[in-house]
Amino acid sequence: MTDKNAKLSVGGKTIELPIFSGTEGPDVIDVRGLVAEGVFTYDPGFMSTAACESKITFIDGDNGILLHRGFPIEQLAESSDYLELCFLLLHGELPSKEESENFRATVQNHTMVHDQLTHFFNGFRRDAHPMAVMCGVVGALSAFYHDSMDFSDQDHREIAAFRLIAKMPTLAAMCYKYSLGQPFMYPRNNLNYAENFLHMMFSTPCGDYEINPVIARAMDRIFMLHADHEQNASTSTVRLAGSTGANPFACIASGIAALWGPAHGGANEAVLTMLEEIGDEAHIDTFIAKAKDKNDPFRLMGFGHRVYKNFDPRAKVMRQTCDEVLSVLGKQDDPLLKIAKRLEQIALEDQYFIDRKLYPNVDFYSGIILRAIGIPVSMFTVIFAMSRTIGWFAHWNEMVSGNYKIGRPRQLYTGYSKRDYPSK
Ligand code: CMC
Repeated sequence: MTDKNAKLSVGGKTIELPIFSGTEGPDVIDVRGLVAEGVFTYDPGFMSTAACESKITFIDGDNGILLHRGFPIEQLAESSDYLELCFLLLHGELPSKEESENFRATVQNHTMVHDQLTHFFNGFRRDAHPMAVMCGVVGALSAFYHDSMDFSDQDHREIAAFRLIAKMPTLAAMCYKYSLGQPFMYPRNNLNYAENFLHMMFSTPCGDYEINPVIARAMDRIFMLHADHEQNASTSTVRLAGSTGANPFACIASGIAALWGPAHGGANEAVLTMLEEIGDEAHIDTFIAKAKDKNDPFRLMGFGHRVYKNFDPRAKVMRQTCDEVLSVLGKQDDPLLKIAKRLEQIALEDQYFIDRKLYPNVDFYSGIILRAIGIPVSMFTVIFAMSRTIGWFAHWNEMVSGNYKIGRPRQLYTGYSKRDYPSK
């Protein structure tokens, strides 16, 4: 309940609208009663709209704050790991020692996918984009695991969560192996989550990939920093799909499709494509000029954010991880990295970028790290998708565990009014 109200005057009539306060963030005006007054609100891009109530993640874009269940991302990245974060996002609290062991053991023992699922891959061209393959095979999970799809049952939701967390890295690595024409590598349950992913990506039946702990930790950080980001485009897509009663595997597939776009999850891939296009430090000024030119659609990929208008706290952690990885791999002199560093410097000093608060975002650094590890650019968004699966699932779970309505926005119609079909 609230004792605050907003007053809206429409056509001479004053409408009172309740105002709600969350634990953090701006107040929200409850406009649900407006439809009965014959008006809708208009907010394309949802710039001023809170589409739901949530307890999972809080972002303060002006101050560069990202909290998961109240814990700052910097502290989580320093002291926690991806699987603990999965538990936290899903259950709301950090696990006890016993809960943690059980959670890890369950995830580690569900990493294999149904063998028939492997046949799906043969239907795809080898040169298909791995995100296209991911949309298909994750959507297909609902054809294999219908024993866990009664989402009114909390146990079913829990099983679906385990399956998704455990099997996404396996499917992601299979996408990569398929594109190379190499045999799929079975998961190894004695490895931790990040190590297992690196093993499935880079080992072959002829030889094991030697796992460097710094690289495995960097991979785990990449998973953590992409795990959730409140009501972004793909999470909102998952919630919207889920609001129709669609099964969780189908909802996650819808999130993958939304994530693919270059303005969202496709950005880390777009960063590398852009760095390769720039090619040489001598060309940087031309690209900066293009980015500033109103008549040129080109944007500096990896810069700017809809919510963070000061700095992206994930980018700070990622930048440090980037330095660690490049130093352990001896790649500090990588020419693309030099271009990236120069771009970063220009963007932090140039008035155009300062005025518009355009800072390097998380994707700017994650792209560089992934490339240094040897992960091909086309797999970047796939890794984002597997990391974000827990965030999507936690939001879907929060929604279907409470009261919700089918998502059905309205519109400002500007087409023809009724007109008669011409007589023949
Ligand atoms: N390069 C050059 N100019 C830019 C850029 C950029 N990357 N981003 C925004 N601008 C300019 C834009 O032209 C506009 O200028 P003006 O006010 O003169 O018209 C101003 O900055 C505001 O732009 P906007 O499009 O209104 O900002 P937005 O909040 O709607 O867009 C964004 C946010 C992330 C889509 C956009 O900054 C962008 O396209 N960035 C590049 C793509 C990218 O890196 N995306 C990853 C986001 S982080 C991953 C995630 O969380 O999904």
